Amino acid sequence: TSDALLVFTPSGRRGRFPVGTPILTAARSLGVDIDSVCGGRGICGRCQVVLSEGEFAKHGLTSRAGHLSPWSAVEERYRSKRGMKAGRRLSCTATLQGDAVIDVPADSQVHKQVVRKRAEVRAIEMNPATRLHYLEVEEPDMHKPQGDLERVQAALAAQWGIEGAAADLDVIRVLQAALRKGGFRITVAVHEDRAGPRIVAVWPDFRDRIYGLAIDVGSTTIAAHLCDLASGEVVASAGVMNPQIRFGEDLMSRVSYVLMNPGGDREMTAAVREAISDLAAEVAAEAGIAPGDILEAVFVGNPIMHHLLLGIDPSELGGAPFALAAGTAQSLRASELDLKLHPGARVYVLPCIAGHVGADTAAVALSETPYLSDEIALIVDVGTNAEILLGNRHRLLAASSPTGPAFEGAQISCGQRAAPGAIERVRIDRETLEPRFKVIGCDLWSNEPGFAQAVAGIGVTGICGSGIIEALAEMYLSGLIRADGIVDGTKGARTHRIAGEGRTFSYLLHDGDPAVRITQGDVRAIQLAKGALYAGARLLMDHLGIDRVERVTLAGAFGSHIDPVYAMVLGLIPDCDPAKVGSAGNAAGTGARIALLNTAARAEIEDVVRRIEKIETAVEPKFQEHFVGAMAIPHATAPYTELAK
Ligand code: FES
Repeated sequence: TSDALLVFTPSGRRGRFPVGTPILTAARSLGVDIDSVCGGRGICGRCQVVLSEGEFAKHGLTSRAGHLSPWSAVEERYRSKRGMKAGRRLSCTATLQGDAVIDVPADSQVHKQVVRKRAEVRAIEMNPATRLHYLEVEEPDMHKPQGDLERVQAALAAQWGIEGAAADLDVIRVLQAALRKGGFRITVAVHEDRAGPRIVAVWPDFRDRIYGLAIDVGSTTIAAHLCDLASGEVVASAGVMNPQIRFGEDLMSRVSYVLMNPGGDREMTAAVREAISDLAAEVAAEAGIAPGDILEAVFVGNPIMHHLLLGIDPSELGGAPFALAAGTAQSLRASELDLKLHPGARVYVLPCIAGHVGADTAAVALSETPYLSDEIALIVDVGTNAEILLGNRHRLLAASSPTGPAFEGAQISCGQRAAPGAIERVRIDRETLEPRFKVIGCDLWSNEPGFAQAVAGIGVTGICGSGIIEALAEMYLSGLIRADGIVDGTKGARTHRIAGEGRTFSYLLHDGDPAVRITQGDVRAIQLAKGALYAGARLLMDHLGIDRVERVTLAGAFGSHIDPVYAMVLGLIPDCDPAKVGSAGNAAGTGARIALLNTAARAEIEDVVRRIEKIETAVEPKFQEHFVGAMAIPHATAPYTELAK
């Protein structure tokens, strides 16, 4: 027989094929995942495979030789133009000459796994909504009257198996010129979602790279990651301040701005969209591409940021019952949001969970996948509000707790944002009560030789959120503050650093200009913030009927900077095995990237969000009770009798 046995790795799929069959054709018939943009024309190089004879024994082949055709002219041309790694062949032109084991390297698979970054819990499998397809389109013929689009559709069906693709009007408008300019060879971008396949862009030449943006619209900063939609790689990242800050520092002041200034929402919508277009231009320039090469964008953000981005008046979110205009995920065109990307670019906005648990929290869930685990996890994203998720694959609860901005250094006498010069680490000697600390931008501790010179350029300017947490925890462990949060004035007998201010006391952390002190007011502000956070977590635990969590994950910028042990010393989070307390980094941004690169993940999070039970902290009397108990350090246990003392 002239049939040869072909085995593909790593999938293990196998079949017999006539000698002379192109490897890509055999792969397709076996359902083996091999990428291609040019459709087997030897142009894109995405279809590369490796002949791996070493695998023979494992796969039970008898023949000792694996055979492929000699290099074709097409391969030689591709290799001389674009280069190819040793041992690689273009599967669209290499044909089978005898039994063979063929390895499909990860970079040749459409559904490849994206290289995982540190702190990422889930592997991202590529499955982008928008893909490129090179087409050879039949030329118009008097005897077969048909429109150009119909012939493009026929080519998509015949060459790519994509049936019934619709097309944007913008595409139809430029299609004829593109076809004629390209000699009836064009590249189209096809976007596919529940509505079916749709041609969203056309180029009169061969294209093999398009890009997507994953954007986290925070109330303070907007962060963007530009990703290659073929490899999934992040090719550029950048962040900017949210320009809405000029309308109001925090979320509620922005809602107030809308309430007091009719049309204020439109000003903020325009401001944020403009900032996003600028950010897109910035990351595109960094990656050496044009903003017009960006075909997709995925957005996450809290409900108010979500509404303002979409151009929805957020007034209803300013007060109970905090009704969202729409919580469901949104699929739209970038042009509807006035974003300066490719005119056919598509936008996907993750669903919001509730009136103040937004699409950013949905993205955290997508990245941390508590809904797949048996372990009961508490996931906290700490910002001006703390968004809290608790549960496992059986039940998942969500709530938001009004922590206020203290954790971000606001409302703290010497507080500041986490920036160079801010104290971020603190230790206090239990005997001498002398402190040492580290500031952002300097590797030395304050008591190490050379510290003064090392910080000369930056200075010690204040204390940031993680610094204040450590300072308070260390003060508590040194006996400088009591369980009820009072700075203990009697310790003034042991250290000059305790000073009286009226009827309260403060601790001098750094005697410089400015002096950095921890005042009674600072302790109170953190007690309120951490009390709210802890009470929210406890409330969800009550609902779930548990009194201990198995894992705690801190997400967000603050969450990734604080030391989990200090968070537990102060009682920000419920007790848990310290080995099971970790930080997730920017989990919301990661979730946005997952949704950008994998359309199946969009359906997944939409389904999860529908099943999440939303708990409204404001209407639960238990919340107040827990809050009072949680003011103590680390926290009192119900029924909070200790506090009565
Ligand atoms: Fe494009 Fe083989 S499929 S080079």
